[in-house]
Amino acid sequence: MTTIIRALIIFLLCLLTAAPGLASDAATAPTVLITGSNRGIGLEFARQYAALGWQVIATCRTPDSADQLQHIASQYPNLSIEKLDITDHAAVDALAERYAELAIDVLLNNAALLGSRGKQVLGNMDYELLRRIIEVNTVGTLKVTEAFSAHVAASRQKKIITLGSRAGSIEMLNSPPDFYAYRASKTALHLLMKNISLALADQGVLVGLINPGLVDTRGFAKIGPDDPVPEDFKEVVRLLRSGVLKLTSPEEAVGQMIAIIENLTAEQSGVFLNADGQVLPW
Ligand SMILES: NC(=O)c1ccc[n+]([C@@H]2O[C@H](COP(=O)([O-])OP(=O)(O)OC[C@H]3O[C@@H](n4cnc5c(N)ncnc54)[C@H](OP(=O)(O)O)[C@@H]3O)[C@@H](O)[C@H]2O)c1
Repeated sequence: MTTIIRALIIFLLCLLTAAPGLASDAATAPTVLITGSNRGIGLEFARQYAALGWQVIATCRTPDSADQLQHIASQYPNLSIEKLDITDHAAVDALAERYAELAIDVLLNNAALLGSRGKQVLGNMDYELLRRIIEVNTVGTLKVTEAFSAHVAASRQKKIITLGSRAGSIEMLNSPPDFYAYRASKTALHLLMKNISLALADQGVLVGLINPGLVDTRGFAKIGPDDPVPEDFKEVVRLLRSGVLKLTSPEEAVGQMIAIIENLTAEQSGVFLNADGQVLPW
């Protein structure tokens, strides 16, 4: 009797694993690897790609304290979390090696460090912070891109997407200049992505460089008229209140960017794009 029941269970299991829907979904779902996915825009990318059924490799520096990401992972079995500090080159290489056999359709370079505004102005420059910002935003992003470019080239979609910033556009720089290190790190990153678009073009890899716009990852929308505003953000809050700047939510910005990534063309590779698809000046 027990043998019959066991045989029946094995038969049912075989039927389940052989079901074409299940097998083909996992096999055909595209894969995205995201850096810095524990909060802000990266977290929202992880959430939306997971909901779209993609295989999501959501990386972050400290998975143990990434509560919101852990919550998404508990809802979506197609999302896995990996520990990755993009400035730890040995760890980047080790992760790339561990996934050597995996084709990655979209590599999403999201992680970045903004740093304190007051420490990035002429007369009060914190050089340790400046080095750190460049180490994360420029060097770390380049290292991740280099380590995973073969995984992307082996995929169907072949897309490297990097979040740049209009703060790194020399042409769009307004007075008073601030965030010196962050701006410089993004300007250099833009140039590196242009280089990479040229270097990988003959392998069919598309390099998308996207400015997300001003996205409310710091809770600006919740600041009331009488609430204290952190010194670093007084200028941006002033511009928001006067209507000069417009804020988007992470949900809206990421939705826009996923549409751009989905429809990215060879002509847009190595071009600096806004989240709404407009071309931005360098
Ligand atoms: N929000 C905007 O308005 C805006 C505008 C223009 C461009 N962008 C760009 O969009 C991207 C996301 O912005 P955001 O506002 O979501 O930023 P955010 O809220 O400050 O989040 C930054 C993310 O990067 C991670 N990170 C920092 N250093 C790292 C490292 N060494 N290794 C791995 N991860 C690291 C952070 O992880 P921890 O939590 O561990 O620090 C965090 O997950 C950035 O590239 C940013 O420059 C944003």
